[in-house]
Amino acid sequence: MKPSFIVKQLDQYVIGQEAAKKILAVAVYSHYRRIARPQRESAMMAKSNVLLIGSSGTGKTLMCETLSTLLDVPFVTAEATSLAHTRFVNEEIEAVLERLVDKAGGVVAKAQAGIVFIDEIDKLKVTDGQERGSSGESVQHSLLKIMEGAQVKLASGEYMDTTNILFICGGAFVGLDEIIASQTHGYGFIATSKGDNQNILDRLNTRVKPTDLFTFGLIPEFTGRLPIIARFHDLNRDMMVRIMTEPRNSIYNQFREVFKDEDVELTVDPRVFAQIAELAIEYKTGARSLRGIFEEMITPILYLVPDNTDIEKVHVSSLFNEPSYVLRSAPVNAPLAR
Ligand SMILES: Nc1ncnc2c1ncn2[C@@H]1O[C@H](COP(=O)(O)OP(=O)(O)OP(=O)(O)O)[C@@H](O)[C@H]1O
Ligand SMILES: [Mg+2]
Repeated sequence: MKPSFIVKQLDQYVIGQEAAKKILAVAVYSHYRRIARPQRESAMMAKSNVLLIGSSGTGKTLMCETLSTLLDVPFVTAEATSLAHTRFVNEEIEAVLERLVDKAGGVVAKAQAGIVFIDEIDKLKVTDGQERGSSGESVQHSLLKIMEGAQVKLASGEYMDTTNILFICGGAFVGLDEIIASQTHGYGFIATSKGDNQNILDRLNTRVKPTDLFTFGLIPEFTGRLPIIARFHDLNRDMMVRIMTEPRNSIYNQFREVFKDEDVELTVDPRVFAQIAELAIEYKTGARSLRGIFEEMITPILYLVPDNTDIEKVHVSSLFNEPSYVLRSAPVNAPLAR
């Protein structure tokens, strides 16, 4: 699968985040190219684990999950926070690898080429005043080992080699922008000739440097294992509207199906999606609150429909108005039994 093909597939489910899609697609493509080489050769090429940085609800997990189904490789997600809240970090990490083997149908060799997504990695940051060896830091050290490639003994007694597992880490990294801004001292790359590409300059200037991550609280060895960094943008209103309506499994499509099962046609005015997006932006949880708001709007209608088999069509024209109904018997707005 070429990177461009991977991006095209991701486009069907993940809205926007073009730069991140490309970075991830290339990383995955190169990774599987590398492990397909003879072992001696591939061992000489460094593995490139990936770090995804972006606010909550902007599609990090969604992109990784979509990717894994696409690639048909075993994929598991782990929360860095739950690793930090246990005294038995290594056991917890082993449990994650065991789950990967399960996903591979018990075939260790298949699991060894899988993907592990570690979410909320930013929660492992070392904060000032914390003593050395604090939980976050020790989790970073434990993760380092398996990210590098280690032999891990499984419950079955078999050994698992983590060298060819691709690790993708994700986190919101709240406050990182301030760190980046404070460390560029106001200067950056500026165009010196007409031929300079402004896009490339912008990219260089917003680049996250390993030193920024270090200032944030990741240990240098850890940032060193995450050479590829993809940033996710905050979602604007238009992107949220597209998220509700465009993907194959969008909320709108899902509910239209639900109504179709009742033999009812549901239509929602584009204006409603804009209203929902406005609310979601206020809630500051990215696209996460879209579904809840939409469901809240639709639930009263879904309550009515099964009792009123006469309903043929439902149209929602505003989040703040009652929907209008077209009845099979009288195609005008007739009163409904409630
Ligand atoms: N770019 C996007 N395209 C399509 N849907 C999206 C996008 N971003 C978020 N969503 C929707 O919002 C939900 C939450 O997104 P996701 O789980 O990917 O967030 P996240 O970036 O991993 O956030 P967190 O940092 O809180 O884990 C997804 O299930 C999806 O429905
Ligand atoms: Mg997530």
